[in-house]
Amino acid sequence: MLTAIRLLDSPKNLLSTTGVVFISHEDEIQNFPLGDDKKIFIKQELFENKKRELLFADDKCKLLFIRPKRHEEGAYKLELARKSGAKGWAFLKDIGQTNLYYFGKSEKLFLAFVEGLVLASYQFDKYKSDKKKSNNTLGIHSPISEDCNLEELLHLTIATFEARNLVNEPVIYLNALKLGEEIKRLGEKYGFETEVLDRSQINSLKMAGLMAVNAGSEIPPTFSILHYKPKTGRKFKKPIVLVGKGVVYDTGGLSLKPTPNAMDFMKADMAGAAAVIGAICAVAQLKLPMEVIGLIPATDNRPGFNAVTPGDIITFANGKTVEILNTDAEGRLILADALIYAQKYDPKLVIDLATLTGSAAGALGKEGAVMMGKAYDEEKSFLKIASQEVFERLVEFPLWEEYGKQLKSSVADITNLGGPTAGAITAGKFLEHFIDYNWVHIDIAGPAFIKSGEDYRTTGGTGFGVRLITQFLKNISN
Ligand code: BES
Ligand code: ZN
Ligand code: ZN
Repeated sequence: MLTAIRLLDSPKNLLSTTGVVFISHEDEIQNFPLGDDKKIFIKQELFENKKRELLFADDKCKLLFIRPKRHEEGAYKLELARKSGAKGWAFLKDIGQTNLYYFGKSEKLFLAFVEGLVLASYQFDKYKSDKKKSNNTLGIHSPISEDCNLEELLHLTIATFEARNLVNEPVIYLNALKLGEEIKRLGEKYGFETEVLDRSQINSLKMAGLMAVNAGSEIPPTFSILHYKPKTGRKFKKPIVLVGKGVVYDTGGLSLKPTPNAMDFMKADMAGAAAVIGAICAVAQLKLPMEVIGLIPATDNRPGFNAVTPGDIITFANGKTVEILNTDAEGRLILADALIYAQKYDPKLVIDLATLTGSAAGALGKEGAVMMGKAYDEEKSFLKIASQEVFERLVEFPLWEEYGKQLKSSVADITNLGGPTAGAITAGKFLEHFIDYNWVHIDIAGPAFIKSGEDYRTTGGTGFGVRLITQFLKNISN
């Protein structure tokens, strides 16, 4: 796994080296420290015969030349470079080397290639007895490397790794208490303040959703507050608040999920929390000039002797009563507590991230997240732009009034269960009852976790949201 980068000299002769050569444009080949015959050969193979990879291998040299697929559209251009980076990593891992060479001038494409390569190097081997040791420093041999913001790239990838680690941990280790401890540890490591509220504090704050979802559990809930304050140059008066769903395991509760398929990966139901935590780690490392607060309600959701039942009615701190008709719609209940709590900060904008509905995953699969909300068009468009830049794509769904009718209850203000259609939206309509500020809800149920890795998104937790939110915050701070 790569967690560091070292800038090294360009080689005198490529034929006595090992590693990966990234090619962003045909013209770069003339800069290769190689004889003319070799340059002509490479040009022919890659640009006339249209190969995308070319291998040089003998006893002194093992080199893979890679050029990404071409694309008209900017966002895809960068994404294809990231994907090539993942191929580069596969080769480096294979030969046990960590050298990268680049002789071109395109900073953006090169950074995207490095980003894909580093992200692809992630592995979760904590529980493997046979851990493969490898060099964790990527050696970059390129004249352009001095100008590139490689440090920023590393901050982002390492924060993504932190989020992936949290998602990949099973609940036997990462329960709600442990998540609170991990947040404290990360706060000290990356430089933000933390506070972890315990069961009695949660109860005193009348966090009815978190208490109800936790009622069947042996392990108490936690409510963590992450607080990053910039030392200088604060850009906005009001803070940005990020809320992350921290269901450390979702069995469905008494409305038990069917096993095997629906429950297998529900350790990932805290991926929203992981994204918020990762983003704040990155923001703190990048020292962004704005105040950012993270709120993480955390519990497991399981049947137990005192578990909340379908038909129970709970009263939230803002006075709203909710009839719980399905205990598997637990995410919205704990998010509601956090959204009410967020009011006390008088936030400029609140963004929540949650693996909230199968409906969102059904709509977009793992290719993107559903977003909706009541915020300024400008804020939403900044989010969409960031989502294209980092290729953690967002699609906006409507919050039309009509959908709200699906939450009607005969005994309480609303129920926690929508009808058979538009499930991602009715979940959003539910949350809307608990906000009185600018707010965006992002349902990451589809892309947060993948059962088999693809390109630079490794198997398990993807860390989706970390790069998106960090990029968004970076963009609005400029
Ligand atoms: N954690 C699940 C949503 C989910 C499903 C995440 C698939 C990742 C992959 C959530 O708590 C849930 O169970 N939602 C229900 C809500 C329904 C009962 C209204 C759903 O989407 O089926
Ligand atoms: Zn559920
Ligand atoms: Zn859930």
